[in-house]
Order: sequence, then structure tokens, then C-alpha cells
Amino acid sequence: MSIKIAPSLLAADFARLESEIKGIEDHVEWLHLDVMDGHFVPNISFGIPVIESVRKVTDLYFDCHVMTTNPDSHLEDFARAGANLVSMHIEAIPDPTGPAERAREVGLDFGLVINPITPFEGIAPFVELCDLVVVMSVEPGFGGQSFIPEVLSKVEAAREWVENRGLTADIEVDGGITADNARLVADAGANVLVAGSAVFGAEDPPSAVMEIRRAVES
Ligand code: DX5
Ligand code: ZN
Repeated sequence: MSIKIAPSLLAADFARLESEIKGIEDHVEWLHLDVMDGHFVPNISFGIPVIESVRKVTDLYFDCHVMTTNPDSHLEDFARAGANLVSMHIEAIPDPTGPAERAREVGLDFGLVINPITPFEGIAPFVELCDLVVVMSVEPGFGGQSFIPEVLSKVEAAREWVENRGLTADIEVDGGITADNARLVADAGANVLVAGSAVFGAEDPPSAVMEIRRAVES
């Protein structure tokens, strides 16, 4: 299965967003944008105006991870700013049916995210609504945390669920991914790997991306 690498902009230098993105855009498939409200998660990152600005400098697919209390209340703004996909936490929207519909109405792809503590069963009935299933491998809120290996069994469960039902959702793992654990994550069934600090924290981000890709494909 071919792997998509989605560097998380949260780990980039916010004073140099354009050059940070230009540095990696030919080496990656997606860009992961972490929107945090300081309420659903204990940190505030960036929002719509930043997405709108970085849209002007790249054509990369924007995978927006929405960590806010009412994640479906700004769908039109996300679409207008140039997002391609919004993913929302099941912990924030217990019934994602309406939000998924509304996302599609404004032209956005839709993803569902589960925290490390939430079992896969929490989203299983809704996977058919999804373009993307995201398994968090750290507590949401901050970059640079250590990968929680216990979530791998949920990645396996998600992959099995998708395959057995002939669904098409991508499966993403988010948090603490490095060249050392990327292979494990992909072998468990993920085909989208988010990497923040491992990419933008590296001296040479394109080589860091290549290292992750090589680890998965070796
Ligand atoms: C955490 C975010 C992650 C994070 C990944 O709340 O959802 O996307 O930025 O960063 P690293 O790869 O540094 O764990
Ligand atoms: Zn994220």
C-alpha cells in the first residue's frame, strides 16, 4: 500500500511558514494542520486566517485536524480558506452524521479522530461516513510527545473494518511518529503518517521525510 506522509505544520517555524512549506512540498503528499481552541484541548494553535494564508503558497492537500469544542460550526470558513478535509474528534461530536453531511455540502472531505483512550468501537459505526479515520497516538494538544504503542491494535482494527466492508477511508496515525516507529505503524495498517517534530524539527526536513518513507518501504 502506498503511504502518504503528512507533516504537521504545528512544528514549523511560524515566522517562516512559506519557506517551511516550500521546503517539503515536493516530498510529501499532504499537509496536516492542527487547529486548537484552548478549550477542547489545553493549547491554542492557529485557525482559519493562517489556513487561508498558507493556501496561497501551496497546492498540497490540506488535512485539517480540528481540535475545538464545536468542530462543525465553522465548516464554511474552512472550505473558503482552502481546506480539503476536516477531521473531528468523536469525543466532541458523539453523532457525526450531521457534521459529515454538512462538511460534504460545502465540498470538504470528512474524517473522524479517536483519542488514545477511546476504543475503535467508538467510531466503527461511522467509518462508512469517512474519507479518513485518525487514530491519535499521543494525547491531542501538543507536538513533540512520545508515541503510545498501545494504539496500534486500534489501527489494526480500523484496517480490518475498512477492508472487510470494502470501504475506502484512509487510515491515519497522528502523534510521535519517527523513522524508528513508522514501519510498525504502517504494518499495523495505517497509510497516512502525520509527523510534526520529526520533520520540521529536523535540520534537513526533506531528508527526514525520505528517512520515514525509507523506513516504511524497507
Ligand atoms: C497533537 C497534534 C499532532 C502533532 C504531531 O495534538 O494533533 O498532529 O502536531 O506532532 P508530533 O509529530 O511532533 O507528535
Ligand atoms: Zn494532528
